[in-house]
Amino acid sequence: MAENVFDLIVIGAGPGGYVCAIRGAQLGLNVALIDKRSTLGGTCLNIGCIPTKALLHSTEHLHFLQHQAAAHGIVTGDISVDLGQLMQRKNDVVARMTKGVEQLCKARKITVITGSASLGVKGKVSIQNTEGTQEIEGHNIVLASGSVPIELPFLPFDGETVISSDEAMALDKVPEKLVVVGAGAIGLELGSVWARLGSEVSIVEFLPEVAPNYDTDISKQLARSLKKQKLKISTQTKVTGLKQEDGKTFLTAEKGGKEVNFEADKILVAVGRKAFAEGLGLAEAGVETDERGRVKTDEALRTTAQGIWAIGDLIAGAMLAHKAEEEGIAVAERIAGKHGHVNYNLIPNVIYTEPEVAGVGLTEKQAKEQGYEVAIGKFNVQANSRAVAADKTDGIVKVITDAKTDRILGAQIVATGASELIAEITAHMLYGGSAEDMGCTVHAHPTVSECLKEAGLAANGRAIHGL
Ligand code: NAI
Repeated sequence: MAENVFDLIVIGAGPGGYVCAIRGAQLGLNVALIDKRSTLGGTCLNIGCIPTKALLHSTEHLHFLQHQAAAHGIVTGDISVDLGQLMQRKNDVVARMTKGVEQLCKARKITVITGSASLGVKGKVSIQNTEGTQEIEGHNIVLASGSVPIELPFLPFDGETVISSDEAMALDKVPEKLVVVGAGAIGLELGSVWARLGSEVSIVEFLPEVAPNYDTDISKQLARSLKKQKLKISTQTKVTGLKQEDGKTFLTAEKGGKEVNFEADKILVAVGRKAFAEGLGLAEAGVETDERGRVKTDEALRTTAQGIWAIGDLIAGAMLAHKAEEEGIAVAERIAGKHGHVNYNLIPNVIYTEPEVAGVGLTEKQAKEQGYEVAIGKFNVQANSRAVAADKTDGIVKVITDAKTDRILGAQIVATGASELIAEITAHMLYGGSAEDMGCTVHAHPTVSECLKEAGLAANGRAIHGL
């Protein structure tokens, strides 16, 4: 095969793209992976999931020292924050992970090219970088160029006062007043980080609840915990713009027909993300997009152009790293003649606040809308001995089942470590498990995971430590 001809060219080296490249290489394909960033890992590793987790963990320690240590008999004296060091540690975490991906690609003999790719005809891809333009050719091309933050037309990003998550995870000073627009994953996670670092944080949400993708009881439980941490939450509030008065900046909004203003040093707009395909030359290559600019795919993740596939945030569906990864694997397998498959019903969703919120499968609302006769098993984390010992009692575990068969349809958890706990329920669901199965699964004592067992039992009125 000529040096510049590949079995598979992957455009975009985020969790969708690089995982697709690795799986393709594992299956014997000759793979090229292209990204305009010089470090691999895409948004997730560079400016998304991983750096926010580093910031969340650092600031959780701070919160413990400031607000909980004394109750544990730990005497600390004055506590201060070296923001530069905190950010450096975050950068070190990112560097370690992006280098790890680079090493994996090298070990798999994947050709990694830095530059901006655009599609040509008949499998050709041209890549531009500071050294010029290079052309390669692929029998198959996978588009995995991800997403970018959505901008509000009446509140455009200026990178200084009105910022996106890109800037909000790298501020060099703690803003006195941070206003966050949008109470989804990004708004709540970064809002928590800066609140712990001392900002007065106001979260402004259009819908009636924070984390509106979860059931109302779960969202309310989360909102209670966040308010205890001094986050101010204003729901059913419609943002209208920005104004300057007396040298101060205000976010303007409407709530209940009245104008409300939020003074702000920084405004983080976190109202969702949109597919990013700039410069790819989709139309010229015959790759169609939908009304939201997402690349259209069929069930096998093929685009409308022969030999071109698309995955991750660029296409419809949840904008989650692990969804993109699964799609990347499935596409690589299909290209290699196997039968890759993604189970879209079992993609867990997490918001990494404290406590964390996690869900999988159907919400109670969705299950009812789909016509199920629903049974609910709920267990309050307050009644769990390990949670009490750890002083992490805010939370609830909720299991949604088909009342006729006891099969688990979905689950939602608010608890410290919910992101880890949800994996057990996902596995039960993968094997068609029932609430009784979960209730019969022996869990180590004392662990917070016992709340899952109890919720399973509760679905059939059998919880031992709850009424
Ligand atoms: P999101 O869709 O999760 O939340 C956006 C929130 O903004 C919603 O609650 C929405 O009702 C609200 N909103 C929309 N327009 C508004 C307006 N004009 N005024 C006030 N509120 C408004 O989006 P987010 O948090 O920006 O995240 C983007 C994507 O990245 C999501 O798909 C998310 O799942 C993903 N992500 C996932 C993370 C995780 O898994 N932990 C972390 C960060 C992002």
